[in-house]
Amino acid sequence: MEKKRIVSGIRPTGDLHLGHYLGVLKNWVELQDEYQCFYFIADWHALTSEYRDPSIISQSSRDMVMTWLGVGIDPEKSVIFRQSDIKTHAELFLLLSMITPLSWLERNPTYKELKEELKEKDLSTFGFLGYPVLQAADIVIYHADRVPIGEDQLPHLELTREIVRRFNFIYGEQVLKEPKEILTEAPKVTGLDGRKMSKSYNNAIFIYETEDSLKLKVMQMLTDIKRQRKKDPGEPKDCNLYPLHEIYTDEETRQEIQKGCRDASFGCVDCKKILIENLHREFQPVWERIDYYRGHVSLVDDILREGCLRAAQESDRTMDRVRTAMRLTT
Ligand code: TRP
Repeated sequence: MEKKRIVSGIRPTGDLHLGHYLGVLKNWVELQDEYQCFYFIADWHALTSEYRDPSIISQSSRDMVMTWLGVGIDPEKSVIFRQSDIKTHAELFLLLSMITPLSWLERNPTYKELKEELKEKDLSTFGFLGYPVLQAADIVIYHADRVPIGEDQLPHLELTREIVRRFNFIYGEQVLKEPKEILTEAPKVTGLDGRKMSKSYNNAIFIYETEDSLKLKVMQMLTDIKRQRKKDPGEPKDCNLYPLHEIYTDEETRQEIQKGCRDASFGCVDCKKILIENLHREFQPVWERIDYYRGHVSLVDDILREGCLRAAQESDRTMDRVRTAMRLTT
């Protein structure tokens, strides 16, 4: 039986951190065996908010692919490509925009929130309003069955389904496919300072660190504020570090850490040393793979070229059907 198909993208707006890894990439890696996956660099989507200074987009695009490869996205299994290399995404975006009521876009919660949040970027643009229509095009152009996303992206997927239904209603049943979500539950990891991990807060542990920078960052991490001194007892639940132990440290050691934290027999520095060691063990092979690709950039370009060809094949097929349905063929 043919594998079901997945489409997902990430905007290249800077280095990927542990939040991206645990919330998105780890899942992408696992989905590769069960599904035929199309993973792409959403550089046009990045442009909707970074249009004034797009240099970050081109810089982080290639880096991002190296990080994907480093964590285990496998070009033998998955199609890896850059959105702007497949111009038909833009064509389908245009065609879908003809049938998308403005009110659907204006009521989109992420539109309203982000426009407010990123006031300094002036997002009162046509492109930003149309963000979910482009996302719909990304998805349906590959006939995706499933889209792995976080909860924040659910309204966009719902909008995609509404656009598909409207398209099929107007131009003929079954031209486009309605995708379903795969909701990824992201474990709650916070940044060094206890706030949400984000590059803009300057509190992120990136997927690519050096041994020294990893050490330095973990040592800086805020722990339970009740533990001013080693003899002050603390509570792992109130510690910023502990969620990472839950992911990277074995059960037995965790029990010891919990006890040592609560009865103050164990200091925060000791606890951090264990985490550093475990993170190091986990990410060392990832760093090595990333270093390898950094030294062989042409390999990355080959992977993207190959991915682009396969993506173009699939998307061209859909576009033929769309153009026919919309009477755009002569
Ligand atoms: N909007 C997504 C995000 O910000 C990125 C994205 C663009 C995407 N196109 C997509 C995700 C298609 C899934 C499918 O994270």
